[in-house]
Amino acid sequence: MKVLIGGGSGFIGRALTQLLLSRGHEVTLVSRRPGANRITWNELTYSGLPPCEAVVNLAGENILNPFRRWNEAYQKDLLSSRLDTTRILATAIGQAKDPPKAWVLVTGIAYYQPSLTAEYDEDSPGGDFDFFSNLVSKWESAAKLPGDATRQVVVRSGAVLGQGGGAIGHMLLPFRLGLGGPIGSGQQFFPWIHIEDMSGILVHAMEKNHVNGILNGVSPAASTTNAEFAKALGAALGRPAFLPLPTTAVQAVFGRERAVMLLEGQKVIPRRTLASGYQYAFPELKAALKQVVS
Ligand SMILES: NC(=O)c1ccc[n+]([C@@H]2O[C@H](COP(=O)([O-])OP(=O)(O)OC[C@H]3O[C@@H](n4cnc5c(N)ncnc54)[C@H](OP(=O)(O)O)[C@@H]3O)[C@@H](O)[C@H]2O)c1
Repeated sequence: MKVLIGGGSGFIGRALTQLLLSRGHEVTLVSRRPGANRITWNELTYSGLPPCEAVVNLAGENILNPFRRWNEAYQKDLLSSRLDTTRILATAIGQAKDPPKAWVLVTGIAYYQPSLTAEYDEDSPGGDFDFFSNLVSKWESAAKLPGDATRQVVVRSGAVLGQGGGAIGHMLLPFRLGLGGPIGSGQQFFPWIHIEDMSGILVHAMEKNHVNGILNGVSPAASTTNAEFAKALGAALGRPAFLPLPTTAVQAVFGRERAVMLLEGQKVIPRRTLASGYQYAFPELKAALKQVVS
């Protein structure tokens, strides 16, 4: 396949590109910057979709950048970097003479309301209770295509664990120094997925004609709490991980509304992902973390 990846230069996109190339596919990125094997968003808007069999969108301003204050300008960037890029791709797909077979969008499990007791699968309600859940709803709506010439898949991702970025990027240094620990109470669920499985699910969604609709992009070991995750990461590094990061500190750095993403969590089951036949490379946390810190 020829695959077009919006925001493919980032953390997930680099792993996805490697996996696609290793399977004999060709990759073109859509980026803000021109370069080899890339087109820009402007080129895409004006020239339309280049010939391709699958399209993925991974573009989005980083949500957990600790150096950006939680204010209106940042919220606008988070929204526009996701909604505008998704709309540009959906429009180009809708107008293509020879439309691609698959259109895959990665959103987030922030769609589901944080809870210590509820359990969510892909059919559970959500998407309408706070800034992030609303963002996911608008993002998924922006991806909708007018017809059914192209198969659509949305992967709602948990925290992606991998080398060189993602959720674990900011955590590794304090944990390596023995200064890591649970965030807030540590009781909140922490849905995670290894980057190899995130790329694997995206390729599965592109290659397998029967896959469609929402898939939860989380490991099947969904009942991991943040405290259990901190303990497992400490163990993988051979370091103590007892120092809790206080709620007030997290709220001071990220702002109250954004801090919810770290201080609260949801138990998410990948029911449709498993039913679609995807087989996880890293279903267990211990092996996933061992690979990430190796
Ligand atoms: N990583 C996770 O744990 C995780 C979890 C849940 C959901 N997701 C979602 O999955 C997608 C990919 O995640 P990722 O970790 O690979 O992201 P990332 O590395 O932070 O960024 C992906 C790409 O988005 C583009 N981008 C950044 N800011 C932009 C802006 N203001 N306007 C337009 N494009 C912009 C960049 O591409 P160019 O510089 O080439 O333009 C960047 O390489 C994101 O939408 C993210 O919200 C990620």
